[in-house]
Amino acid sequence: MRRTLIAGNWKMNGSLASIETLIGGIRDGIGSVSNADMAVCPPFVYIPRVRELIGDAPIALGSQNICDQASGAFTGEISGAMLKEFGCRYAIIGHSERRSLYGESDALIAARFAMALETGITPILCVGETLEQREANVTEQVVGEQLDAVIGHSGIDAIGQCVIAYEPVWAIGTGKTASPEQAQAVHAFIRGKLAALDTGVADAVQILYGGSMNPGNAAELLAQPDIDGGLIGGASLKADDFLAIGTSA
Ligand code: PGA
Repeated sequence: MRRTLIAGNWKMNGSLASIETLIGGIRDGIGSVSNADMAVCPPFVYIPRVRELIGDAPIALGSQNICDQASGAFTGEISGAMLKEFGCRYAIIGHSERRSLYGESDALIAARFAMALETGITPILCVGETLEQREANVTEQVVGEQLDAVIGHSGIDAIGQCVIAYEPVWAIGTGKTASPEQAQAVHAFIRGKLAALDTGVADAVQILYGGSMNPGNAAELLAQPDIDGGLIGGASLKADDFLAIGTSA
């Protein structure tokens, strides 16, 4: 049985004051969440403070990216070892904003993924199609190629050590959620593709849905057989909403 994971992607939001309120609120209410694991992915600079504020509460910590290199002359990058020092368990990799706004290629994403695993950090690998691609009926091809880049680099066993997040680009931050059926169809495609390579990996891997998930639509999405959690942007910035998604699992 796959455990549900609800991960908050705070993106480039917040201030020292607002993240203290946010994580305090999540801490206070975390006892109400019993059927899901919860994680937060703050901006890099807030990770140490969030670590302190989490204390011994059952809230995992993740980063929003990770360097593909171990150390050295890579201005602006953060290494897996650094993230480990501050207790990061997860790293979001290949988010569509990194792909489209910052030009991260499949090859770079595959290298970041490999370095996360090498450092003992669980990648949350994001895949997903644009609206144009969906309308052109190439969703499976696009998502398949995004997965193949990582499988080609690290092998199918590596997928068994990661979390996948299916995030249709047209649903991110738009308030337009994929319907439970639309999301389930792509999740089933992903699991089927993995099953053709290794059924054990396919059965075990958590596949999260991301894209305007909120307390109003979470229960229906999370009830789908191949949806094992959520990667939450906007609704993870309010403790009550984030917790409500967790309790609807
Ligand atoms: P959203 O973002 O929930 O605000 O749509 C999801 C994501 O980008 O991970």
